[in-house]
Amino acid sequence: MTIEIKEIKKLNPLQLSQCIEISNRLFGKGYHSRKYFLKEEIVTIVAIKNNKIIGFFIGKKEIKNVVIDCIAIKRRWQKKSIGTKLMTFYFRKFLNSKDKVVAYAWKIKNKMPAGKINYKFGLKPVKNMGKIWKEKCNVSFKCRSYNNTCICECVKFSN
Ligand SMILES: CC(C)(COP(=O)(O)OP(=O)(O)OC[C@H]1O[C@@H](n2cnc3c(N)ncnc32)[C@H](O)[C@@H]1OP(=O)(O)O)[C@@H](O)C(=O)NCCC(=O)NCCS
Repeated sequence: MTIEIKEIKKLNPLQLSQCIEISNRLFGKGYHSRKYFLKEEIVTIVAIKNNKIIGFFIGKKEIKNVVIDCIAIKRRWQKKSIGTKLMTFYFRKFLNSKDKVVAYAWKIKNKMPAGKINYKFGLKPVKNMGKIWKEKCNVSFKCRSYNNTCICECVKFSN
């Protein structure tokens, strides 16, 4: 399994479509806009297999914190260490030991898909932010998890 992990400064149109498709399938159509992936302040790291993006990681440096904004791996490639590889790349290349790192994990039906990967990188839950997507859920994007109401919570992790 040869999977390339690399940073892309600016996604080309094809790469952008591939990231949007992954996001649409995992989070819901419209959750991430094209603009989101083209913001200048973000770091984009991707996993590539056969010239196709199968996972992406978006991080950014803010004044006080480093924020892990989103990590998403195509469903059939999940649990194959690709998320770990993307995080490792980011931590090695962009962070130093003093950085305060913050990540926001999605909690659904008491499960947090990103919980374990956050723990692996020294991040622990510090605050349940509650239903932060409530206003937008199934309004500005078609949520995959909407069930008559917004059912997802957000948990803030930090080191
Ligand atoms: C969460 C996600 C990014 C992890 O990436 P991945 O490539 O599957 O992760 P890895 O294979 O590197 O596994 C890292 C650890 O997380 C665990 N893990 C992966 N997916 C998990 C899930 N859905 N639920 C619980 N644990 C999970 C793995 O078992 C592994 O633990 P281990 O090292 O003790 O074996 C990926 O599953 C994904 O894209 N999920 C859907 C989108 C999502 O929830 N993104 C996070 C937004 S907050």
